[in-house]
Amino acid sequence: MEKKAAFLHAPRTPLKVDTAPFNQPGPHEILIRNHAVAVNPVDYKQQDTGVQIKSFPCILGMDIAGTVVELLSQQKITDKIAFTDVVVLPLGLTTACWGLFEEGYLEIVAPSASEIPPSENKEKVALVWGGSSSVGASAVQLLAAGGYTVLATASSKNFDFVKSLGATHVFDHTDSSIINQLVEASCGKQVLGAYDAIGADSTARLCVQYLHTLGCGKYMTSLYTTDTGDFPEEVTRVGKSPPPMQGRDGGAPLWNNVWQDFMGSGLRNDKLRTKPDAFVLEGGLERINEAVDLVRKGVSAKKAVV
Ligand SMILES: NC(=O)c1ccc[n+]([C@@H]2O[C@H](COP(=O)([O-])OP(=O)(O)OC[C@H]3O[C@@H](n4cnc5c(N)ncnc54)[C@H](OP(=O)(O)O)[C@@H]3O)[C@@H](O)[C@H]2O)c1
Repeated sequence: MEKKAAFLHAPRTPLKVDTAPFNQPGPHEILIRNHAVAVNPVDYKQQDTGVQIKSFPCILGMDIAGTVVELLSQQKITDKIAFTDVVVLPLGLTTACWGLFEEGYLEIVAPSASEIPPSENKEKVALVWGGSSSVGASAVQLLAAGGYTVLATASSKNFDFVKSLGATHVFDHTDSSIINQLVEASCGKQVLGAYDAIGADSTARLCVQYLHTLGCGKYMTSLYTTDTGDFPEEVTRVGKSPPPMQGRDGGAPLWNNVWQDFMGSGLRNDKLRTKPDAFVLEGGLERINEAVDLVRKGVSAKKAVV
């Protein structure tokens, strides 16, 4: 069986598509015939700097969608969704799950796609900074499915999109009075925390300012290297280091609650949608460098897919 992959031979060089060695799956591994690849900011960051790469040449990439070729048992999620649509979810959804639900992070109770959330959850509020980003779109959907009051930020052109994901209120992140607006919308509610889906130093400071004005709260960022500066006493930064890829305890809580329950039935009953929309560059892996460049330049409410 022939396998193709895009190789990075050295930092700051283009990816080169070539034949890759084919390995039979071992115990606890599956073989997937891949049909679509989504590009994340980590891909260009690794291409530009070589960060976290142990040896070259290497194959980058975190998001794939395809058909399972070899597995002892398998659960079919749905066959109504195109690979190029569903591939936008895996890393963004997983990243949002860690930050929102895992022990030692924001520790919010994860949603169920099949049960109605308790009505008192409306009295609990969470902020998602960057609701139109890939990670942010998943965070908004997960919190909305939990029945919480979700405040999100985005550019005004993306307000309708972020509201369609379930955000209760959306605020323009370029508006200088945004902190006052967020604080006003949170007053009288239990504050679950601020999830910074962008992870820039500037967005971290704004999230901390929001929590500081409210007088308490937990801050979590999608990027554990974010420089948040010194924290006021009443604001806690949680999750300073990344959890293992599969979550704690061998991945069981994350897998059971979110991937098995929420993702499976959520995709079928529309509580989880494949957002942001894929921007598909037709032509397969040969267009991977264009896709990475697109993400490097900055996308808005879109995910580059080949
Ligand atoms: N993608 C993943 O699975 C993943 C995994 C782990 C960590 N991360 C990290 O999480 C961060 C976000 O990644 P992503 O893939 O979700 O990003 P993305 O989809 O490429 O982010 C694009 C969005 O970011 C928003 N944005 C950009 N600058 C902003 C700012 N200063 N304030 C508020 N919003 C801003 C834009 O919103 P508007 O267009 O509405 O202005 C745009 O829609 C990155 O630092 C990434 O390295 C991502």
